[in-house]
Amino acid sequence: MNWNPEQYNRFRAERMAPFQDLIAWLQIRPGLSVVDLGCGTGELSKRLAQLLPDSRVLGIDSSAEMLPPGPGFQLGRIQDVSGSYDLIFSHAALHWVDDHPSLFRQLWSCLNPGGQLLVQMPYNFDHPSHQAAATVAAGLGQQPLRRPVLPVEEYARLLWELGAQESQVILKVYPHVLENADAIVEWTKGTLLTAYSVTDEFLEKYSRAVRKACPGSPVFYGFKRLLLTALKPA
Ligand SMILES: C[S@@+](CC[C@H](N)C(=O)[O-])C[C@H]1O[C@@H](n2cnc3c(N)ncnc32)[C@H](O)[C@@H]1O
Repeated sequence: MNWNPEQYNRFRAERMAPFQDLIAWLQIRPGLSVVDLGCGTGELSKRLAQLLPDSRVLGIDSSAEMLPPGPGFQLGRIQDVSGSYDLIFSHAALHWVDDHPSLFRQLWSCLNPGGQLLVQMPYNFDHPSHQAAATVAAGLGQQPLRRPVLPVEEYARLLWELGAQESQVILKVYPHVLENADAIVEWTKGTLLTAYSVTDEFLEKYSRAVRKACPGSPVFYGFKRLLLTALKPA
């Protein structure tokens, strides 16, 4: 299943909540060089540019479908990021990239002295909405997804090993209330299911499993996310 901005934006309001939490940590200074890794539609890159006076914000994403046109956006992979930045920002994207110890070392090396790392990653892999997709995919002979996200405390350790100042790492549950299980399926169609080969059979089995695990209307969809920030010593 491909990334699709319309599908992704169906739950735009719910996805803005972690962004609001993350920018509460944002160090506002003028004239920053910023990169937004896995920027998707670029909406948050533009919000960052509005929040940071005279900043230059570059959005990078590997999906041509998601990426908006314009000089501030570049097709590319997070793991190939280079250059030097005052703010490295990533919202709901680093969990798609392998080997987080190496990735974080690489991001740190791209951060200017005094710079800030500001990251949010979904952490909902043990929820039935994610487990059901893995079970259905295995039953249809698909490879299991890699799960690069580390235990929460490992990020605190990693940031300490990198010499970070004032790091914070938190896990937060966002309490979404959706109409029913089918709404959860619509949600994952915009994100998680892009990692699978989704046939009609996949979707039917997956929807059945999610309905069984999350019956009733409305349904509570508790969505865990990891948020972190760290400053590089000046
Ligand atoms: C859930 S969306 C988040 C988009 C945006 N940051 C937001 O919060 O609205 C994840 C984005 O990460 C991108 N992505 C996934 N793996 C990537 C990679 N290895 N390199 C660059 N972008 C990647 C996808 O194309 C997608 O646009």
